[in-house]
Amino acid sequence: MKVLILNGSPKCEKSDTLHMSKAFAEGIRSVTSGDVRVIHTAEKRISYCNGCFICKKTGACVIDDDMTKILDAIRESDVVILSFPLYCHSMPAALKVVVERTMPLTAERIEKNGEGDYHHKEREETKDLRFVSICGSGYPHSRADFELIEKTVRRTFRGCDTVINVEESPLFNIKDAEPLTDTRLELLEKAGAEYAEAGTVSDDTYKQLAIPMIPEEIYMKFANGEKPGR
Ligand SMILES: Cc1cc2nc3c(=O)[nH]c(=O)nc-3n(C[C@H](O)[C@H](O)[C@H](O)COP(=O)(O)O)c2cc1C
Repeated sequence: MKVLILNGSPKCEKSDTLHMSKAFAEGIRSVTSGDVRVIHTAEKRISYCNGCFICKKTGACVIDDDMTKILDAIRESDVVILSFPLYCHSMPAALKVVVERTMPLTAERIEKNGEGDYHHKEREETKDLRFVSICGSGYPHSRADFELIEKTVRRTFRGCDTVINVEESPLFNIKDAEPLTDTRLELLEKAGAEYAEAGTVSDDTYKQLAIPMIPEEIYMKFANGEKPGR
């Protein structure tokens, strides 16, 4: 299985969220052969979509920039992991510009799906392509904060049926938190292996991923620079 991680964090290799996405990809790799590629979107030179819709007819974008290679990388993949932190209840601009420039991946024809939502029809070349969304966040207990972005990714990418949201993600870059974060990374690896085997993450693993790594009150003290005992 060819996995592409589209990293939307401007922190690139230092991204908290990327720890999780790499663990998930490692889980996929433990079950299937194939490679994992990471693209740091913030390092790329990508213009805004100009809204011309020419790509809907031709399948190609009129703008010649780094997005051409990203579109090729997406087309060559079996699974694309959208890896990003929650920014203002949405995704960072570095990834948003990439998402908007994926317009050439779908055709001009508009269709209605079983839930009554409209979308542009898939092209033959990407009809089997699947998307996974892995989002980290800085606030504790952010379940409600993830609602908007979860809807966005599910509705933007028809193949995006696996959405993993993990709050308290700054812990992934804190050495003293490793006993906690290592356990969470093992769980993400398990989720990746389940996804590779069954095409989906089990309800039990989703439930465990939704439990905060440390209680809200302790995380708040840590985030506000207070000693947990006070
Ligand atoms: C501009 C900006 C906006 C943010 N907005 C949110 C937010 O709406 N909700 C939240 O829980 N965290 C928010 N955060 C915190 C990040 O999601 C958090 O620090 C995350 O761990 C960063 O992940 P990364 O290292 O993968 O970039 C924001 C951070 C920045 C810099």
